[in-house]
Amino acid sequence: MTGVLTPVLTAHWDEPDSFTLEGYRRAGGYQALEKTLRTQQDDIVAALKGSGLRGRGGAGFPTGVKWGFIPQGDGKPHYLVVNADESEPGTCKDVPLMMATPHMLIEGSIITCFAIKASKAFIYVRGEVLHVVRRVQQAVAEAYEAGYLGRDILGSGYDLDIVVHCGAGAYICGEETAMLDSLEGYRGQPRLKPPFPAVEGLYSCPTVINNVESIASVPSIVADGADWFAEMGTAKSKGFGIFSLSGHVVAPGQYEAPLGITLRELLDLSGGIRAGHRLKFWTPGGSSTPILTDEHLDVPLDFEAMAAAGSLLGTRALQIFDETSCVVRATLRWTEFYEHESCGKCTPCREGTYWMVRVLDRLEHGQGSEEDLEKLLDMCDNILGRAFCALADGAVSPVVSSIKYFRDEYLEHQKGGGCPFDPAAATLFGDSR
Ligand SMILES: Cc1cc2nc3c(=O)[nH]c(=O)nc-3n(C[C@H](O)[C@H](O)[C@H](O)COP(=O)(O)O)c2cc1C
Ligand code: SF4
Repeated sequence: MTGVLTPVLTAHWDEPDSFTLEGYRRAGGYQALEKTLRTQQDDIVAALKGSGLRGRGGAGFPTGVKWGFIPQGDGKPHYLVVNADESEPGTCKDVPLMMATPHMLIEGSIITCFAIKASKAFIYVRGEVLHVVRRVQQAVAEAYEAGYLGRDILGSGYDLDIVVHCGAGAYICGEETAMLDSLEGYRGQPRLKPPFPAVEGLYSCPTVINNVESIASVPSIVADGADWFAEMGTAKSKGFGIFSLSGHVVAPGQYEAPLGITLRELLDLSGGIRAGHRLKFWTPGGSSTPILTDEHLDVPLDFEAMAAAGSLLGTRALQIFDETSCVVRATLRWTEFYEHESCGKCTPCREGTYWMVRVLDRLEHGQGSEEDLEKLLDMCDNILGRAFCALADGAVSPVVSSIKYFRDEYLEHQKGGGCPFDPAAATLFGDSR
């Protein structure tokens, strides 16, 4: 099925009232919940395991397996935390999903909570996107009003409350354990694992943390069946996902397709690279996934093939750069982001991102040397796998991969005494488009 768009999550985005309860119900919304309430909780967990759905927040951990880790009969409250903190450079799928179909997320949250025997869920939304916070709050209010939330949901005896929590806006709060600290009112910094959140999460109770897109995929799996979902995608990367194309493409936007589709196919669907230009480099899944080049146009966008190609599927945020872009400048910009967002808890990340920015800035402005490249790679070596959380590993990705593919371009900056690219040529304004 690869190569064919499969709109499920995005099927109703074009309808003017897709975000209302009425619009969602017209599209079959909340029928999966009704089915769920007539099903054994363990059977829902089994269906998710059978579907092969892997977390859509970046790491790709199997969702049903994660739910299965929640201890049963432990007498403790269980929680669901929906990770809606989306803020990785390039990643832009959860925000439109919540704007267009917030009820899909709410229905998925209710089904998930029922399955893991939780009676309280938190949707942790990035605070800067106030319009999204309001939209989700409005949808939650509608769901309470209609009896999908609160006491005795649809007469089933099942109770659930959802709290929409507004984060203060820190990339690190998207890391699941930092999110828990943030929810508890502390400064958002990652926790030591183990214990894992499924055993000791929010308020030291068993907690499932899932990405918005993962949870929004749940109603369709319950409604149409695990086999339907598992038929799409590749052997180990099942189902569909939202691919977000941005940058130098004719029609940037969200393309929902089976995992395993290739960049070449996505470019065909999106009108290709802007006229008169050619692909230079791209990220498969946001700035924390190593960049790839035009050599990789036909590599399937699934977890396994991306890893084999030396990158990661991440959040399927494809940032596309044509030959007018300076890879050193892009890498500097990404690294500045990581320096700014490092929570400071551990030395390799706090100090390493600071120094990488200094060296990259020197290189971009033609004041670096070949030795600086070795220095950068040495820094990366001392950061990768030695920091407390994956933010630091992500920070290393663009640096190492850009030197791997574009070492000569780094050196040209030094030879020419500055950046050889005209930054205006890379903009998407005016005739350059
Ligand atoms: C620095 C950092 C930021 C992250 N930001 C997000 C985020 O905004 N949204 C998200 O779903 N996962 C994010 N993650 C991944 C989460 O830690 C976690 O793996 C994910 O929410 C699990 O959900 P999933 O299994 O449904 O993918 C981030 C991880 C790190 C290290
Ligand atoms: S790796 Fe960076 S973001 Fe993660 S805990 Fe250490 S300092 Fe904080």
